[in-house]
Amino acid sequence: MGLEFPNPVGLAPGLDKQGNAANMLSRLGFGFVELGTVTPLPQPGNPRPRIFRLRQHNAIINRMGFNSVGLEKFLNNVAKTRPGIIKGINIGKNAATPMARAIDDYLIGLRAVYQCAEYITINVSSPNTKNLRELQNDDALNELLKALHHQRLKLSDSTGVKKPLVLKIAPDIDAHQITTIAKLARRYDIDGIAATNTTITRDGVEQHPLSAEPGGLSGTPLRDKSTAVVQALYRNLENEIPVIGIGGIDDAASAMEKFQAGAKLVQIYTGFIYRGPELIQEIITEYSHRYR
Ligand SMILES: Cc1cc2nc3c(=O)[nH]c(=O)nc-3n(C[C@H](O)[C@H](O)[C@H](O)COP(=O)(O)O)c2cc1C
Repeated sequence: MGLEFPNPVGLAPGLDKQGNAANMLSRLGFGFVELGTVTPLPQPGNPRPRIFRLRQHNAIINRMGFNSVGLEKFLNNVAKTRPGIIKGINIGKNAATPMARAIDDYLIGLRAVYQCAEYITINVSSPNTKNLRELQNDDALNELLKALHHQRLKLSDSTGVKKPLVLKIAPDIDAHQITTIAKLARRYDIDGIAATNTTITRDGVEQHPLSAEPGGLSGTPLRDKSTAVVQALYRNLENEIPVIGIGGIDDAASAMEKFQAGAKLVQIYTGFIYRGPELIQEIITEYSHRYR
């Protein structure tokens, strides 16, 4: 991605959706923080309750639905971040924007955040915005990545800086989709793939009274599924495009599984909620024993 990270443990997006906590979060020890998802216009997201803890499973089901302060306020907040912190900014589409115009929202997002992000993540994998994940399919993904590629060329010409683009994908995809994603990521010069977002499956939590709540499942029950996607991507891409491993990391061993599968960086969310900041140091310590 052309960036040098102080350590490979990042905060996954969705925790600091307003972009106002990066200073505090980076002081907890994260090597990088991903802010957002931010949508072009402000929107409230889904009605509450929209987030559920399945404690026995170290899991969460959420259907936040991109609650967002919108780009303008978000960028005012992010402007207060100390220099030197690696910030990814994760962009999405407004619920009210028809799917036929989804690309416009991503282009608006890319242009708006380009200058202040160290990298930009294209989120086509949230299960909580209707039909969003269809953007991962062959033709739709081709059109989206083509448009973003051209926009980035223009932005790098006009600013003199080429900012890395990362594509964030769902765990609920088959081998064909993985091959397509890898092929299109190469074709349109994508700099990183973030794998994965939450799952719509309920494997391992079927018996839990909250398992029927609609939304994306994260945490330990997602772990193996996301590791499998990391591994499949790595087999397709080898070292051409780095993979960020995300999903169910809740101790050093589960983080090492992601690196072993080929991830160059990891991100945590649910494990961070349950275990707190000590999890960051635990992973960094083990990583430096193994890989330095
Ligand atoms: C409450 C909540 C909100 C989330 N919001 C976003 C989001 O806005 N954008 C995004 O790309 N991922 C979002 N995610 C997904 C996480 O970034 C991450 O991909 C997923 O939770 C798997 O990692 P984990 O098992 O460590 O939680 C959210 C996850 C949770 C639990």
